[in-house]
Amino acid sequence: MKIGIVLGTRPEIIKLSSIIRHCISNNINYFVIHTGQHYSYHMDEIFFSELNLPKCKYYLNVGSGNHGKQTGMMMDKIEEILMKERPDVVLVQGDTNTVLAGALAASKLQIKVGHVEAGLRSYDRTMPEELNRITADHLSDYLFCPTEKSAGTALGEGIDKNNVFITGNTIVDAVYQNIEISKSKDDIITKLGLKKEGYILVTAHRPGNVDSKENLEHMIHGVNLIYGKFGLPLIWPIHPRTKKMLEKYNLAAPRGTMIVDPVGFLEFTQLELNAKLIITDSGGVQEEACIMKVPCVTLRENTERTETVDVGANILVGTDPEKMLKGVETMLNKETSWANPFGDGSSGKLIMELLRKSLT
Ligand code: UD1
Ligand code: UDP
Repeated sequence: MKIGIVLGTRPEIIKLSSIIRHCISNNINYFVIHTGQHYSYHMDEIFFSELNLPKCKYYLNVGSGNHGKQTGMMMDKIEEILMKERPDVVLVQGDTNTVLAGALAASKLQIKVGHVEAGLRSYDRTMPEELNRITADHLSDYLFCPTEKSAGTALGEGIDKNNVFITGNTIVDAVYQNIEISKSKDDIITKLGLKKEGYILVTAHRPGNVDSKENLEHMIHGVNLIYGKFGLPLIWPIHPRTKKMLEKYNLAAPRGTMIVDPVGFLEFTQLELNAKLIITDSGGVQEEACIMKVPCVTLRENTERTETVDVGANILVGTDPEKMLKGVETMLNKETSWANPFGDGSSGKLIMELLRKSLT
């Protein structure tokens, strides 16, 4: 069995890490193609070094760009490599342009596609991710769905039940495999002058939220209101897209908020684990908050991670400042005894076992 893995962004590196580790420890023939969609040290290399992952066999250096150009450049280069390598299956993870390019290039060469984190839907087609995940699911031979709900969604769209597997989400593997290492790392909480459970963690990078001046201003106003009411300091490791937009619109950081460069996964999980509350529009951060039992307020009108809302770990508020404030108030008063809906941390192993049975 020969596995090709295509990745290119921060969450894909994190969420594919347990699969790569499994390939290494079980001597599975695999190779990794890195599209280069993310390339800054804090969005890319830091995860390879912190998570102890080997260098990728192929770097495509595609970088940033418009969707068509970025996806096209990736496809062109991935196709060339796949024609040479001819793996039995290509694995992609999530909903980025890297996923779309990997799934399309492989399926057009009649190479099987495995989609890790399949069956998620926000039903919001204004989000590029929704288009990518729908396309990837319908091109895939193996849909590795995190939950019964996501598997049900895929089946409801007419996908063959023989192609649909419930595996949990590999983010649980990443959290469980790294949490102890994270605790033994430098104490970022003290380094930043924060107190355990005495601060709010913020992240935001959805184009719908941060590319629009109006929405970005709303978000900042909402954070100001939250600081005004609760007096908890906020820490905001800022995504490069959002940093660029704050600079473009010449907007200042909200009151009480410390804006820092993105941090590595080990530091970020420490920040999550010790936060009183998390405010985010990230997919992975909604999941991690739920897994780590930290209340989450999501700056979106919808989510494809509906399980987090169903178990009571997450609330959707969009970017209306008053709704943000109310959401924070609600979630600060929440019991955090919900169950983690995303599996037991053995998803990577299960996915590889399923592939081994099917392909050998
Ligand atoms: C991408 C994914 C999104 C995912 C996110 C994870 C798509 C369509 N979007 O969004 O689904 O949630 O990654 O973080 O695939 N930039 C840097 N350094 C980098 C990467 C980006 O400075 O290493 C800046 C560039 O100015 C770039 C902008 O960030 O134009 C956006 O990057 P891009 O990869 O296009 O989209 P993301 O917002 O990162
Ligand atoms: N993350 C990180 N450092 C940061 C912010 C996020 O390591 O400064 C991790 C986080 O733990 C999660 C992933 O990045 O696993 C989420 O990535 P992002 O929010 O960029 O993308 P999304 O999940 O929305 O696709």
